[in-house]
Amino acid sequence: MSDPKIVTPPFGRDIEYKEAGKVGETPGRYPTIRMRRNRTGDGVRRLVAENKLSVDDLIWTAFVVDGENQRVPVDSMPGVVRYSTDVIAEAANEAFELGVPAIALFPFTDPDKKTPDGRESLDPENLVCTAIRNIKAQVPDMMVVCDVALDPYTSHGHDGVMDGETILNDETLEILVKQAFNQAEAGCDTISPSDMMDGRVGAIRQTLDATGYQDVRIMAYSAKYASGFYGPFRDAIGTKAALIGDKRTYQMDPANSDEAMREIALDIDEGADMVMVKPGMPYLDIVRRVKDTFGMPTFVYQVSGEYAMLKGAVERGWLDEKVILESLLGFKRAGADGVLTYFAVDAAKKLKQLG
Ligand code: PBG
Repeated sequence: MSDPKIVTPPFGRDIEYKEAGKVGETPGRYPTIRMRRNRTGDGVRRLVAENKLSVDDLIWTAFVVDGENQRVPVDSMPGVVRYSTDVIAEAANEAFELGVPAIALFPFTDPDKKTPDGRESLDPENLVCTAIRNIKAQVPDMMVVCDVALDPYTSHGHDGVMDGETILNDETLEILVKQAFNQAEAGCDTISPSDMMDGRVGAIRQTLDATGYQDVRIMAYSAKYASGFYGPFRDAIGTKAALIGDKRTYQMDPANSDEAMREIALDIDEGADMVMVKPGMPYLDIVRRVKDTFGMPTFVYQVSGEYAMLKGAVERGWLDEKVILESLLGFKRAGADGVLTYFAVDAAKKLKQLG
């Protein structure tokens, strides 16, 4: 028990300990202060909870593939399938009915349609544009987010056109703006440039504004790192085998944080409505910095590798499935307004059960 002469908790107690020559004895204000009091029951825990994950925070990332009535599993992402364009709207609707406000689309392009310049990206009948139209016809109020980048369409798997080994920035922009315009024409309400070319947000903004799509918003992959955590995604869209080299000449070095602030500032300047950090879990410090610095609608992408790690461990019984909601709540705590996640539908169901 504490010394009865020490009567001025909580303030000054440490000093009194020192004056009394008690340095070395229990420091701090225990037993007066007991942090556990606020954890004793469900009610108080709910009252003091600082963050809350809700279905409103989720963007469901989904893959589309050619064919009819297809749901093709992705081996490295157990539980994730690629939907053909005739069934994606049904899947989107299920998510929307559960309360998920947005879906983000990624195409698995037939390898025969891939070219060095990724021209399939400009076909108004391509998988993504068809999926957008079908979703908007069936679930008009669902926000549809579309990646703008060339990697699902290029034979070399890079996000830009190449000259020898070099990824060309400005030449790529010319294609990206057309891709963005096509997606807006198909009904996409949120264009999401994911390629990390310089100047693409501004170029896309100008094009959209000049073509009557001033209300189509831009969610920029602003701080996107050259990460190993994208592996399963590249399986899912069939770019892994194709990819020559790596993406370190355009995606960010995982060592950098200040550089992310510059990237975000530039994208805001160029007209981004929302910014994104990617990947998620290893980059929570970036999420916090971005939110604190810019106060922008800030999103984080829980990428395929994060999904694979968590889902793989849950499937084997190595982790309890509680880790799924915990991982998503962590993003909220770090300052994110929302999360792009392959767990969205699953998480929405779990949240509904919790009430
Ligand atoms: C393509 C793109 C990638 C992801 C989203 N858009 C992969 C890449 O940059 O190679 C990764 C998503 C994930 O891993 O879940 N521009």
